[in-house]
This record gives sequence, C-alpha cells and structure tokens, in this order.
Amino acid sequence: MSRAGWFVVGVVCGVAVFAPLGAYLFAKFGGIAMATTAKPLPFEKTFAKAALRASLRGAAELKDPLPEDEANMIAGACVYLRDCAECHGLPGLPKTAIAKGEFPAPPQLLAPDEMVTDDPEGVTYWKASHGIRLSGMPGFADTLSDAERWQVTMFLAHADKISPAVKAALANGGSPACGAKR
Ligand code: HEC
Repeated sequence: MSRAGWFVVGVVCGVAVFAPLGAYLFAKFGGIAMATTAKPLPFEKTFAKAALRASLRGAAELKDPLPEDEANMIAGACVYLRDCAECHGLPGLPKTAIAKGEFPAPPQLLAPDEMVTDDPEGVTYWKASHGIRLSGMPGFADTLSDAERWQVTMFLAHADKISPAVKAALANGGSPACGAKR
C-alpha cells in the first residue's frame, strides 16, 4: 500500500478506537446528565428526533384494520384510561405527578395543542406498540392485544371530535363501558 493509503488506514483506525473511548469517558465523567431535572444536552433533541424518525420508517403505511365505529372508540377510551391517562392526561384535570416528573415530558394527548390527530394512525400505533426508548413511553406490544392498540390509536386519532358516548365513558372512569377490567 502507498504511504497515503497507510495514512488513511491509520486515521480510520484512530477514529474507530478513540471516538467510542472519548464518548465513554465523556459519559463516565458526568458529561451526560441522567437526571430528569437536568437541562437537555446540546443537540439531545436533534439526535432523539432523528433516531425516532429512522425507527418509524414505514410505520405511516400501517392501516387500522378495525371498523371506525363508536364501539371501537369506547374500547380505545377504556384502554387509554387504564394504561395511558396517568402520563398523557385527561380533559379538565391537572397533569399528574408522574407526568410532571418525566423527561422528556409526556404530551397531554387530549389537550387541543398536543393531540396526535394529525399524525398518521400507523405512527401512533407503532409508538403504542414499541414505545420510545430512553423516554418514559412504554411499549405495549406484549401487554395489549393488537385490537386494543388499534382501538386506542383510533381514539387518539379522533380526540378532537369525540362523541358524547365516548366522552361519558372517559368522564365516569370508563365504567360500565369498560367492564370489569378497569
Ligand atoms: C409512564 C408514562 C407513559 C405511559 C403510561 C404512556 N406513555 Fe405515551 N409517552 C410517554 C412519554 C414520556 C412520551 C414522549 C416521548 C418523547 O418525547 O420522545 C410519550 C409519547 C407518546 C406518543 C407520541 C406523542 C407525540 O406527540 O408524538 C404517543 C402517540 C403515545 N405516547 C401513546 C401512548 C399510549 C397509546 C399509551 C397507553 C397505551 C401511552 N402512550 C402510555 C409516556 C407514557
């Protein structure tokens, strides 16, 4: 190999060894705050957003197989009450201590300015299924059925125009519409 070739190999090997070592030492000596109360790192949002966008590739094409009707919306509201409301909030109620203590903050999905009604349903379904790593957002793929994840997706996609029956289910804690599961 020519001298220039060896130089390139040297640079590549140096970067391969020292970049991970540098990142490790940066973390080890406190460069990356893990406290939810700490200020975000420079570029933290940019990195997190880019990684999430890459993970979501193809999710927007997923389509809800269930009929869009009131029974499914109510079932979705029941799932929301049981497994999402503690973090994502309910209309007219203040943020819970859990929601206030998380970083990143869970968006209040029933508040008009934080709803996901404009997101493709497949994206909401993907997030409900797989969660968002290194945030407080759990994945429910193993704990909710496929139908339940689509039902809560349907409910969130229509959160700006929920019917009186769905509103009533939400307001009275879901029962009796949510059955004994709650
Ligand atoms: C323990 C708290 C917690 C629970 C419970 C929870 N989430 Fe989340 N969720 C979060 C957090 C935190 C985020 C923000 C993640 C981020 O910013 O990267 C989030 C983000 C989301 C988003 C993306 C919102 C947006 O604006 O893009 C959706 C959709 C979502 N959650 C749906 C759900 C559903 C559906 C459930 C219940 C089945 C649920 N979440 C339960 C904490 C929670």
